[in-house]
This record gives sequence, structure tokens and C-alpha cells, in this order.
Amino acid sequence: MSKIKVGLLGGGTVALSFLDLVQVHSLNIEVVALLVKNESKPRGVTRIPVTSSENEFFSLYDFDILVDASNAGNERWSVIEKTMLSKKPVVSANKKWIVDQFDAFHSLARLCEVPFLYEAATAAAIPVVKALNSYYKDLDIQGIKGILNGSCNYILSQMERGCTFQDALKEAQLKGFAEEDPSLDLSGEDARSKLLLLVYHGFGKKMNRNHISLQGIQNLREQDFKNAAQRGETIRLIAEARILKGEIKAEVRPRCIPKTSSLGQVKGALNAIEITTAFGCTESFTGQGAGGTPTAQALISDLFSALEGFDYQDTKAFLSDRSKCENIME
Ligand SMILES: NC(=O)c1ccc[n+]([C@@H]2O[C@H](COP(=O)([O-])OP(=O)(O)OC[C@H]3O[C@@H](n4cnc5c(N)ncnc54)[C@H](OP(=O)(O)O)[C@@H]3O)[C@@H](O)[C@H]2O)c1
Repeated sequence: MSKIKVGLLGGGTVALSFLDLVQVHSLNIEVVALLVKNESKPRGVTRIPVTSSENEFFSLYDFDILVDASNAGNERWSVIEKTMLSKKPVVSANKKWIVDQFDAFHSLARLCEVPFLYEAATAAAIPVVKALNSYYKDLDIQGIKGILNGSCNYILSQMERGCTFQDALKEAQLKGFAEEDPSLDLSGEDARSKLLLLVYHGFGKKMNRNHISLQGIQNLREQDFKNAAQRGETIRLIAEARILKGEIKAEVRPRCIPKTSSLGQVKGALNAIEITTAFGCTESFTGQGAGGTPTAQALISDLFSALEGFDYQDTKAFLSDRSKCENIME
């Protein structure tokens, strides 16, 4: 069987983990070229062409599917456009770009009738977007609640053990759980982007960022954990959307929760999501919600699903009456 040819956008942590998984596990995938921002950056890729030229990427290398493992933005929109217009699927980990250009991505995918999948963009290796689009597709969801940012959860877990905020942040950065500029994580904005995607796939509604209230973890101090501990509680950054009087109420904020609760026991860089249906059942998903390998694993799962024809087109998000949506994502 001939190998699946992949055009890889990006050459950083996730892209290199993707290459690694393909090579180490001898997957039936051939990465034909990497399209990056700065082609002279050393990245230890020797046998695969690395280019920053879009023309070269499209004219020299033929691929079956585009994998976006970059943090590119609209400057690379024509890459998405050319790929989809030539009837090739796109799978992506690029959450910020997906949320910022949500309608543009989905309209183009619909127009071109190609799958556009992004499991990797929300809680990396945890297959929650797929679950919402398959198992939960015909079930009414009452609530989605979870820990969606591994950096914050690592910091909060360390503070629970007595670390100061600054030390915990430094440690998270040293271990690669937090970026040099951690502001998007600490402010809760990263978790809010992921919650927007979960709301869309879970409730079939598009929300505006501004309709999800936001509070980050920057102002938490050791004393907050001591106070919580006296009540048998700990603190976690919780992203939650639930139906209240027929409306979706959504928020991201640090909350005191029992130490013994399922979310209270999620430690370190793990993520967890609980989905409650209108039937009153709650299912929990826990796993590696960040990092090169977990994110690359999600991209690989999506890659095969997309080539098998799975897409988000017939899910409740698309079937819901758009005129009833109160809010439109930015
Ligand atoms: N790391 C995680 O745990 C994780 C988890 C879930 C989702 N994600 C998402 O996955 C994506 C990649 O994350 P990462 O950790 O691998 O980031 P990273 O190490 O900073 O790598 C980003 C890559 O994007 C490339 N890039 C930026 N602008 C570009 C452009 N205009 N054209 C082509 N390439 C461009 C960069 O190229 P150069 O190398 O040439 O600068 C770099 O290789 C991001 O969107 C991130 O939000 C990451």
C-alpha cells in the first residue's frame, strides 16, 4: 500500500514530535516537506525538505493531506485555501488560528467538501471533540466542565504542595509545560479558546469570547491554598459551560473544589473533561492535554479519520439552526 503523503506546516515541538512518531513507529505516512517560517533555523531534520516558500511547497511536493502543527496565522491562509480547493483535507493543532478564523475555516471546508479536523487543538491527546461529534452527537448535553490548561494545572498542583506562584511558574517553564511568555495560559485565555470549541461541538452553538467570563490564576497566592486546605479543598482553573434556564452559561476561573473530587485529583500537566448529559450521566476523560507527543498523536488520529471521510459536517453544530445562535464567534 502506498504511503500517505503529508505536507507539514510548522517545524517546532509538535511538528518534530509528529515526525518522530511517524519514523519511530514506521507509520504508513511519508512527510514530503515542512513549510516553516524560518528555514535556516536548526531543527535536526535532515532527510525531509524544509522550506519557507509556499510556491516551492506546492509546486515541488505533492501531498494527500495538510497537517498544521504550526502557530501560523492569516499570512498562511493561502496554504489552507490551496489545499482545500484541491480537495485535500486539513488537520490542525493550531487552536488560536482556528478560533480566530472559525467561520472562514469551516465555510471553506464546507465549500470544498473536505474534512477539517482539530482534535489536537483541545486537550491534545484526549479525544473529546471526536466524542462530542460521535457518541454525544444525538444526546442533549447539560454541561461540560474541565481542566483545559496543563501549564496552569501544573502550577496550581505545585502551589497545593506549598510552592510560591513564582517558583511554580519557573518550574513549569523549565519542564517545558509553560511557554516563555505564559500570559495566554495564566490569563485563562487558552482555556477559553478550548471551551469555545467544546461549546460549539457539544451544544451546537457558536459563542463569542466575550460571552465566556474569564479570570486567570495570576493573582493566586500560597495563602489561598492554605485557606482552601482547611476546608479539605484545593484550587483548580475550571472551564465550564452549562445550560441554565435554557441558556448557555460559560466561564473560566479558578475555583475551590474538594481535594477528593475527580477534578481535584487531576495533578500536574494533565487535563480532564467531564460531560453531563440531560439524562443525568456524567462521563470523565482524563489524559495528556499538552506536549509534543500527545498533540502529535491527536493529529495522527485525525489524519486517518479525515482520509476515511470522517468530518464534522453532519454534527449537531452544523445541523443546528444558525439563526437561533445568539452569539457569533469573532
Ligand atoms: N505544544 C503543545 O503542547 C500544544 C498542544 C496543543 C496544541 N498546540 C498547538 O500546536 C501548534 C504548534 O505548537 P508548538 O508547541 O509546536 O509551537 P512551536 O514549537 O513554537 O512551533 C511553532 C512552529 O510554527 C512555525 N510557524 C510560525 N509561523 C509560521 C508561518 N507563517 N509559516 C510556517 N510556519 C510557521 C514555526 O516556524 P519556525 O520554526 O521556522 O519559526 C515553528 O516551527 C500551535 O498552534 C499550538 O497552539 C501545541
